[in-house]
Amino acid sequence: MEISNVVVIGAGAMGSGIAYVVASSGYKVTIVDQTQEFLDKGMKGIRQKLKEGIERNKMTPAEAQKISQNIKTSVDLASAAADADLVIEAVFENMDVKKSIFTQLSQTAPDRCILASNTSTLSISEIATVVNSPARVVGLHFFNPPEAMKLVEVIIGEKSSEETVKVASAFAEQLGKTAIAARDNPGFIVNRLLVPMLNEAVKLLDEGVAGIEAIDQAAVLGAGFPAGPFVLADMVGLDVALASMRTLEDKLGSGYQPSPTLVRLVEEGKLGMKSGEGFHKYS
Ligand SMILES: NC(=O)c1ccc[n+]([C@@H]2O[C@H](COP(=O)([O-])OP(=O)(O)OC[C@H]3O[C@@H](n4cnc5c(N)ncnc54)[C@H](O)[C@@H]3O)[C@@H](O)[C@H]2O)c1
Repeated sequence: MEISNVVVIGAGAMGSGIAYVVASSGYKVTIVDQTQEFLDKGMKGIRQKLKEGIERNKMTPAEAQKISQNIKTSVDLASAAADADLVIEAVFENMDVKKSIFTQLSQTAPDRCILASNTSTLSISEIATVVNSPARVVGLHFFNPPEAMKLVEVIIGEKSSEETVKVASAFAEQLGKTAIAARDNPGFIVNRLLVPMLNEAVKLLDEGVAGIEAIDQAAVLGAGFPAGPFVLADMVGLDVALASMRTLEDKLGSGYQPSPTLVRLVEEGKLGMKSGEGFHKYS
């Protein structure tokens, strides 16, 4: 099956980044969000990526303009989905919100359209229960920032068809990514490894073993991580990290319970880079 028209739902950190990657690979993409304000914020981020691309000689102004012309925005999910070959949902990490989106997609996207979720930890099989043909539902899990990270996990739901998985994997490879398939389970591969590590870092801090800078530096110098756990958590968004931890706790047991410090920071609105402060401060 040929993919031409792509719709990305959610203009946040991931949705706007995924749309940028998709448009950069020559596809037409429509970004959908709840309000024009959210769309404007997402487009501002995309324009910044294009500007940096030109400044770093990664693209010419003409190429940047072409990428920009491949991107449209809309607040009308039904009309955007009506001619889509592939929809990638990247809204809040909340099962009810995702199910409501997939219910609408089931009614408005054409039968040929593959319906993918960028969820970090939620069950693709459960999301698919609200869709008329769950065979066309799959996980396409990009990493942050999507333009830099080379992996896309392709999550195989209980009812995902072989054809859906094949087309979704080929699409990810077309974007220049490595597609790795994983059976649906809480956290898939990467977050099953990463989320407990982030939580352990906060526990080390709470226990007074070492400070934020020291733990970050230890992970980089001793474990060879490209960034320390607190920098990574701030980049992911502490709300997103907390939601992922709660899913792992709910599905896999209390060993995955989020640390109280993380819960407090989220309650205080300290969500990481996107809010200007998380474990670290950003100006
Ligand atoms: N942040 C990360 O590092 C990361 C990495 C991989 C996957 N994810 C996953 O990607 C998804 C999005 O994460 P994010 O960090 O981009 O979140 P975000 O909070 O930055 O953005 C979410 C966007 O979704 C929009 N939205 C919410 N409900 C909507 C609706 N009903 N219709 C249209 N738009 C709606 C919001 O307005 C917002 O713009 C989550 O499922 C998350 O778990 C996040």
